[in-house]
Amino acid sequence: MKIAILPGDGIGTEIVAQAVRVLGALDLRFETETALVGGAAYDAHGHPLPEATLKLAQGADAVLFGAVGDWKYDKLERALRPEQAILGLRKSLGLFANFRPAICYEQLTHASSLKPELVAGLDILIIRELTGDIYFGQPRGRRESPDGAFAGAEEAFDTMRYSRPEIERIAHVAFQAARKRNKRLTSVDKANVLETFQFWKDVVTEVHAQYPDVALDHMYVDNAAMQLVKDPKKFDVIVTGNMFGDILSDEAAMLTGSIGMLPSASLNSAGKGLYEPSHGSAPDIAGKNLANPLATILSAAMMLRFSLNQPAAADRIESAVQRVLAQGLRTADIWSAGTTKVGTIEMGDAVVAALSAATAKTTITKG
Ligand code: IPM
Ligand code: MG
Repeated sequence: MKIAILPGDGIGTEIVAQAVRVLGALDLRFETETALVGGAAYDAHGHPLPEATLKLAQGADAVLFGAVGDWKYDKLERALRPEQAILGLRKSLGLFANFRPAICYEQLTHASSLKPELVAGLDILIIRELTGDIYFGQPRGRRESPDGAFAGAEEAFDTMRYSRPEIERIAHVAFQAARKRNKRLTSVDKANVLETFQFWKDVVTEVHAQYPDVALDHMYVDNAAMQLVKDPKKFDVIVTGNMFGDILSDEAAMLTGSIGMLPSASLNSAGKGLYEPSHGSAPDIAGKNLANPLATILSAAMMLRFSLNQPAAADRIESAVQRVLAQGLRTADIWSAGTTKVGTIEMGDAVVAALSAATAKTTITKG
C-alpha cells in the first residue's frame, strides 16, 4: 500500500505529521512518500502542483493531504495560487465524490454555536460533487460584455454546467451511502431559478427509481442553508453540486462546533481517494503547536476504510480518538472549562498511546 503524503501549507505540516505517526503505530505496512504541494511547492518549484507531486499522487493507492493556502499568495495570478493544487488534484485524479461528515461529538456539544439540544447526536453526511459545476465549467474569463444592459463594459463570467452522466454517478454514490445509513437522502438544488439544477433534480429523481428503499426529497439551497441551522438533525445524507456543497459543508461543519474534528474523503470511480481535514491551512496559528490534528487523524482512518481496505484499523483509530476525548484532552479550538488543554504534538501522543493501550488490552483478554 502506497500512500502519497502531501502536507501543504500552514498547519498542514504539523497535523499531517501526527496522522503519519498514528498510521505508523498500527501494525500495518505502508510505503509512504512525501511531496510539496500548494504555496510550499510554489516557493520551491514555482508551481503549486508540480509534475512530480501529481505523478506521486497518481501512482499512490491513496493521498493524505493537509491543507493549502496563505494570504501571502493572494496577489499571484490564479493559476499559481495554492488552491489550484487541490483543484488540480481533484480534476486529474477524477475525485468526483466528496464525503463530508458533520458529526457532533458528545463531549463537544457545548462548543457549537447552536443550542445543545439542536446538535446533540448530530450525524449528517454531505456528499458534494467535486469535479464539475461552475468550479470547472468552460468557458470562463474576462471580456468586454457582448450584450445586455451593460454591453461594452468589462465583465467576468463563469459557466455552470452538469452533464447527465456526471449527475447520475454522484446520485448513485449518494443513494448507496444513504442505504448504509438511515435511508434518507436530500438532494439540494436551485431548480426554481437555474436550468442546470432543474436538470440535476430531474436526473436525481430518475436514478431514485433504482433505490426505492431510500426516501428522497428535494430542497432549494437557500432553504437548506436555513434548515441546517434551524433543525440540522432532520437531515441524514445530503447530495448537492460543487458550489452549493462547498458552502453547505462549511455551514454544517461549523454547527457541530468541531470543524477541527471533521475529516473528508474525495473518491474516484476506482475507489482511489484523497483524504483531508475539512478545515483549512489556518496560517495564523501555524507552527505554534496549537492546531487540532484530529480531523487529519480521522481522515487517515477514512483512508484505511475507503481506499486501503483496512476497516479494523480504521475502527481502532476512531476508538482511540474517542478515548482521548473521554480523557478530557482538548486542543485550543475545542477546549472548554474543566478539560485539559494540549498542543498538536501532545494530542498526537495521546492518540498513539490510546492505540497501544487498546492493543495491550486485547492481548490481555486473549491471554
Ligand atoms: C474546500 C475548499 C476549496 C473549495 C478551496 C480551497 C479551493 O474551500 O475544499 O471546500 O472551494 O473546494
Ligand atoms: Mg470550502
